[in-house]
Parts: sequence; structure tokens; C-alpha cells
Amino acid sequence: MVRPKVFVTQRIFPEALEWLKQEAEVEGGQAEAPLSKEEILKAVEDKDGLLTLLVNQIDREIIERAKRLKIIANCAVGYDNIDVDFCRQRGIFVTNTPGVLTEATADLTWALILAVARKIPQADLFTRAGRFRGWALDLFLGQEVYGQTLGIIGFGRIGQAVARRALGFSMKIFYYDLKRLSAEEERNLQATYLPLDELLKRSDIITIHTSLNPSTYHLINQERISLMKKTAILINVARGPIVDEAALASALKDGKIWGAGLDVYEREPEIENKLLSLENVVLLPHIGSATRTTRLQMAMTAVRNLLQGLSGQRPDNLVW
Ligand code: GLV
Repeated sequence: MVRPKVFVTQRIFPEALEWLKQEAEVEGGQAEAPLSKEEILKAVEDKDGLLTLLVNQIDREIIERAKRLKIIANCAVGYDNIDVDFCRQRGIFVTNTPGVLTEATADLTWALILAVARKIPQADLFTRAGRFRGWALDLFLGQEVYGQTLGIIGFGRIGQAVARRALGFSMKIFYYDLKRLSAEEERNLQATYLPLDELLKRSDIITIHTSLNPSTYHLINQERISLMKKTAILINVARGPIVDEAALASALKDGKIWGAGLDVYEREPEIENKLLSLENVVLLPHIGSATRTTRLQMAMTAVRNLLQGLSGQRPDNLVW
């Protein structure tokens, strides 16, 4: 039997690559940095399957070039890097890796909340620099987290996992989502639905967990930032373009809000220059799901989806 041909755009874990190699002719899987569009265009021509990372923009031109393509397995829960509508029209499966990264991403969200509220990176730098000269009543004063109000934008798997952790901090939880939970689900999470603008006005800490799509692009813009409390903290671990990064940088600079924690950016890996010099923002390099266990599970999930699609089965995590 002819083995399917697969292209893996970048380095993945050896365990995942080995599994794939048992079932398919594999090319790629070694690149350290994202490939150029030209390189991807060339590689996809004769492939039946693609394993992609979120840094790969898989647009119409690439999909049209891949005449034999049956499936694109994205190794991420988000899939805004792929033209899914066009794939659906052509009957090409697109899959993601939901579920396996929920808890790790919620943990990282909390790491960012606490890091911003208690100025952890700044305090660490200060201590390393030998500037700690003794306890002082007003050294690195942060914001309370315990008992405060948390506003969660996007209340799917990850947003809800963030809410479960917030219960341990005795927080009041508001959420906004296009889909409202049932009364019972809301009760279990002690979460109250609010329209977005109302949530922004009433929350001390606001955290974003929606997907990026045309309706969430710049959802948090200058106007919405102006609704937030002056003491508010904004966290984004979802996708950069959901927040107008320039508007956020101005608001942080002018003290319109108190702080922010970002794991994602509008034009990754580029970061709005103004943010880099601000003290009241904590910047991470898109590591929301980055534990070894979770990232390996993501790679294995992507391989499983890919093999299912190649064998003509409907893959577990089809997104359309
Ligand atoms: C990470 O950002 C993901 O979408 O998995």
C-alpha cells in the first residue's frame, strides 16, 4: 500500500515524529525557525497531509498549491493561522488540539495575574541587582488579588478553568461570552454573566480567553480600555490581535489602567516598541501551554488527528 506523504513544518518532539513515520512518508519536522511562505509552498505540492504550528500562515495560495491535501493538523488549540473556510469548501480537514492544554494555560494565566499584581519580575530584577537593603513598609506595593473581582472574556474550556482557580482566591467572577452557560453551570462556577462593557467597568482583573476571528479582532480597543477601572489589570493569553496593542501601550503609559500581562502580541514575534519600556506590563513569549507534558500531548494529538484524516476517518478534533 502506498504510504501517505506528510509535511511537518517545524521541529516537533521525536516521539510524535516517530509515530508519524511509522504510518507515513514524512518530510520536515526539523526546522528550528518558522519556514518562509516560499518554502511551505514548495513543500506542500505533493503532500496528503500537513502538520502545522500556529506560526505558519496557511492561506488560500498554499492550499491551492497542495493539490492532494486531505488534512491540515494544527498543533495548537487556536487555528486563526489557517483559512478554514477555504479548506472546508475544498473538503480538506482542519484539526486543532483542544482539551489537552486547558489546565496548563489556566495555570499560566494565574502566573501572569499574580506576576502583574505583585510586580514579581520587577522585584526579582531588583533583588538580583543587589538593591534589597532591608524590609520596608512600602517596598513593591502591588494590588490585592484575593477577594477581588475577576472578569473573564471568553468562557470556554480555558476561561472556565481560570474561573475554577479563582474560587480559591474567593473572587467574584463575571464572564462574557457569545454563549451563556446554563443556570446550573453558572452556579457551579459561581460565575455571573455580564455584557462586555459592563464586565469591563466592574472588574479588577480582566482576562481574555476567546478565539481570534473577525468579531474579536481589536475587541479590546481604546474605547473599551477607557471603560476599565484605573486600578484594573488586563491579561491576554489568547491571541494578540484581540487587543489593540498600541492603544493598550498608551493606556498603560498614561496610567489609564494599572497593569497588564501579555503572552501574545499583534504581530508576533514583534512587540509594540512602547510596551518594552513600560514597568507596569509583564511580557511573556507565548508560553501559555508550555509544559513538557502538555506540549507533548498537543503534538501527539496533532499526529493522531493527521493519521485519522489520512485514513479517511473523520478526525477527532475537526474544527469545521
Ligand atoms: C496556543 O496559543 C494555542 O493556540 O494552542
